[in-house]
Amino acid sequence: ICSFSRSHTRMDHACPSSCICAKDSGTVTCGDGEDTEVPGDIPEWTSTLILKGRNISTLQRGAFMSNGTELQMTTLSLSYNGIEAIEPYAFLGLPRLHVLDLSHNQLEYISARAFHGLLELRSLYLNHSILPPATEQLSNALNTQSLRNLHRLELAGNTLKSIPLLRLDMHNLHALVLINNSIESIGGGNVSMLYQQKRIRVYLDLNPFRCNCELEAFYYWLKNSSQCPDAGRLLCREPEAKRGVPVEKLREEDVDCMNENLEAVSYVFLGIVLALIGVVFLMVLYLNRRGIKRWLNNIRDACRDQMEVYHYRYEQDSDPRLANVAVEAPETSDRVVGGHGRQRVPGSAL
Ligand SMILES: *[C@@H]1O[C@H](CO)[C@@H](O)[C@H](O)[C@H]1NC(C)=O
Ligand SMILES: *[C@@H]1O[C@H](CO)[C@@H](O)[C@H](O)[C@H]1NC(C)=O
Ligand SMILES: *[C@@H]1O[C@H](CO)[C@@H](O)[C@H](O)[C@H]1NC(C)=O
Ligand SMILES: *[C@@H]1O[C@H](CO)[C@@H](O)[C@H](O)[C@H]1NC(C)=O
Ligand SMILES: *[C@@H]1O[C@H](CO)[C@@H](O)[C@H](O)[C@H]1NC(C)=O
Ligand SMILES: *[C@@H]1O[C@H](CO)[C@@H](O)[C@H](O)[C@H]1NC(C)=O
Repeated sequence: ICSFSRSHTRMDHACPSSCICAKDSGTVTCGDGEDTEVPGDIPEWTSTLILKGRNISTLQRGAFMSNGTELQMTTLSLSYNGIEAIEPYAFLGLPRLHVLDLSHNQLEYISARAFHGLLELRSLYLNHSILPPATEQLSNALNTQSLRNLHRLELAGNTLKSIPLLRLDMHNLHALVLINNSIESIGGGNVSMLYQQKRIRVYLDLNPFRCNCELEAFYYWLKNSSQCPDAGRLLCREPEAKRGVPVEKLREEDVDCMNENLEAVSYVFLGIVLALIGVVFLMVLYLNRRGIKRWLNNIRDACRDQMEVYHYRYEQDSDPRLANVAVEAPETSDRVVGGHGRQRVPGSAL
């Protein structure tokens, strides 16, 4: 539906090659093509420009300036274009831009002045787009006065390890999407910033949280602030013992550094005390070795005495004596014990 203007012959009424123009809705859609460039002849009436599958490797300075004039476009979608680098002032001449979608590219370089001039930008999508070399540059690029009107910043799927905002002075920021990154922990400094920016909502699902005591400030922020809409879905990745446990379901002592330290200290203390007791015991043994020897001898003697007494008693009670008695006094035994006693004696002697 290429809409060429009726009577005019001016270039900006033409539709760029390999694009589809819908003038009624102000939309220009440029699909796959040989082009590795942003079309240079974007019509003036364009409010939405969608480029896709274009293999644009670098967004150059003023890439969307049409013949040096500003465009009044409000939405620019550049997802899936293999963009690797954004040069300074790439979006110059787009003072009305509200939505910029740069998701699903392979950004290796982002200039600190990449987003310069986007004073009206409300939504910036950078999901699945930032490669590791560009993560640090991203913080600098986002740290610009130009983005002071940003409401929504999407950064899902970028292997980010921390919130890439140096300061949270984007007072209009309502949504910060950090789903599916590599965030293990969010430190106390970041947390107090988040407390201050009451209207901001941070989405953090699918991050590998390390559930030790460094997570304490974040843990209380999560439970307390209701600034994280997907708080219930955040899971621990580390340590092994807590893998899969919801961060919100941790106990307070799990994230209590004092507790952790105290525990360690008390184990060390217990160890020292046990070692001291052991040493004292050994010393007592050593110093008292004579006394102990004597004592042992005494015990042995006592035992021997006891044994002798026992032996004596045993011998008295034992059957040979009985047999003797029986033999020595057969008449009396006969008389007293009777026939049974007599019969029993020889049998017992065996
Ligand atoms: C994109 O363009 C570059 C050259 O600019 C080329 O080397 C690369 O193969 C292209 N990639 C695709 C997917 O077409
Ligand atoms: C570009 O601007 C120059 C003057 O700045 C003008 O002469 C020329 O016609 C313009 N071209 C288009 C395609 O609008
Ligand atoms: C990623 O970006 C697209 C826009 O291209 C958006 O619709 C989507 O919700 C974003 N978020 C995620 C998590 O993919
Ligand atoms: C998370 O992001 C990676 C790329 O960084 C992607 O391959 C994967 O599908 C994403 N996972 C989910 C559940 O979205
Ligand atoms: C968040 O933490 C990172 C790393 O500790 C730091 O560089 C950054 O400035 C912090 N951001 C905010 C907004 O506090
Ligand atoms: C929870 O939030 C309230 C109000 O912001 C604060 O006074 C309180 O100390 C917080 N509790 C914890 C455990 O952080």
